[in-house]
Amino acid sequence: MDSTIAKIETKNVVNLKNYKKKVFIETYGCQMNFADSEVILSILKNNKYKRCENPLESDLILINTCSIREKAELNIRRKLNSYKKLKKENKTKIGVLGCMAERLKKKFLEEEKIVDLVVGPDSYRDLPNLLNKVDNNEKAINVKLSKFETYERIIPERIDSNMISAFVSITRGCDNMCTFCVVPFTRGRERSRDPKSILNEIHLLEKKGFKEITLLGQNVDSYLWYGGGLKKDFPKALPLQRRTSLRFNNLLEIIAKEKPKMRIRFSTSNPQDMSDEVIEVIAKYPNICKHIHLPVQSGSNKILKKMNRLHTKEEYLTLVEKIKNKIPSCSISHDLITGFPSENDEDHLDTLNLMETVKYDYGYMFKYSERPGTMAERKFTDNVPMEIKNKRLNEIILKQKKHSLFRNQQFLNKTLCVLIEKESKKSNDFWSGRTTQNTVVVFPKKNFCPGDFVDVRIENCTSATLIGDAIRISKDI
Ligand code: SAH
Ligand code: F3S
Repeated sequence: MDSTIAKIETKNVVNLKNYKKKVFIETYGCQMNFADSEVILSILKNNKYKRCENPLESDLILINTCSIREKAELNIRRKLNSYKKLKKENKTKIGVLGCMAERLKKKFLEEEKIVDLVVGPDSYRDLPNLLNKVDNNEKAINVKLSKFETYERIIPERIDSNMISAFVSITRGCDNMCTFCVVPFTRGRERSRDPKSILNEIHLLEKKGFKEITLLGQNVDSYLWYGGGLKKDFPKALPLQRRTSLRFNNLLEIIAKEKPKMRIRFSTSNPQDMSDEVIEVIAKYPNICKHIHLPVQSGSNKILKKMNRLHTKEEYLTLVEKIKNKIPSCSISHDLITGFPSENDEDHLDTLNLMETVKYDYGYMFKYSERPGTMAERKFTDNVPMEIKNKRLNEIILKQKKHSLFRNQQFLNKTLCVLIEKESKKSNDFWSGRTTQNTVVVFPKKNFCPGDFVDVRIENCTSATLIGDAIRISKDI
């Protein structure tokens, strides 16, 4: 054989061996889903896929879905529809992952002919096998939930990262069974991740130059790990006595001590699980951010009970007071649902009054959306008319805007430490970053860079943003 042909042929074999298929991944829903997409990409990267940013060029489109409200699901159905032409012309394979996949299971393959692959949140390690099937033009599905899967040891492949802040998942699933919520059904039982693998991930992030991490879970305060394993690798961080179990306050403290130059955030806290020890640890360490996301859902005890929230309005307010006493600078944000079954004007007024007492820094507000299979859907009638839901939602949004402005005004003429994250959306002459309270600050770039902690003098504000001038590199964090 001619030696040049032999060379070309060898080269082709090598190329084919190294050929990577292109995957386009899009994510809907909560931070947890965004963190999961990074795990998915890491699994695929080790299995001959590389990420691409244009669905038109991809061999595989993955949609990581959200089921939390009906509107989220409708958006995803619409998105699938928009891929019909692409699938026909390019033979692109389409996979649906995450909560909606878990909720609908096989029904998804039946209802949406365009879908080749359905994978629930605990089955991503099975993706390479499932994709082999898809490559053979078979439909593939795995929606098994696990009591143990935490994807530890999988180092997430960061997507669109600013290389400054990253999510680190510490628990999966939820055992709380709020009556309105589909999460316990789509994400399964609560389980905590091995602290050693959490610390390893944070360590790698720090080495890459990341400055901030957000510890993620549906309910981080109920983090619980039995057994040791930390002593050898992280001796500095361990308290002297031998531990038999590690709770959220212990985990926070270990990370805060081990990584004093990194900012630590966490979300979400459930009011009934937040312990005094957690509040003390937040107060003690300057690198643990002074912000707590503390969903309340309603200000009415009657509604809280029907929601199976395990706290009353009074207990919630006592907790808020405790936080503010121990950490006066701490910001508090919320989630609220309006129009839950049987919510009347008096219940709504209770919510408005609770907001007035707490004066939250910001919040996420939703109209109740009935979710199939939940206790609320099975036991209660969705009986608050849409126009009343809308009216109440507008009222709480308006009140929140007023309180956000009030909170932001407290920062006027003060100098705050800000971690620069990215260019401001409104102007490329400005940086955008956040304070320890999680308030967004924008300011002229000068010679500062993303990743710098800078002292910013606050000159102006809206209800959503502080506007200021960076005066120096900060000594704080
Ligand atoms: N784990 C978090 C919340 C998960 S879902 C927690 O502990 O609170 C995020 C928010 O979506 C919830 O806090 C709730 O306010 C909202 N939500 C959940 N189910 C909903 C539903 N059926 N209708 C409207 N909003 C809902
Ligand atoms: Fe949902 Fe309640 Fe858990 S809102 S995620 S069931 S704490």
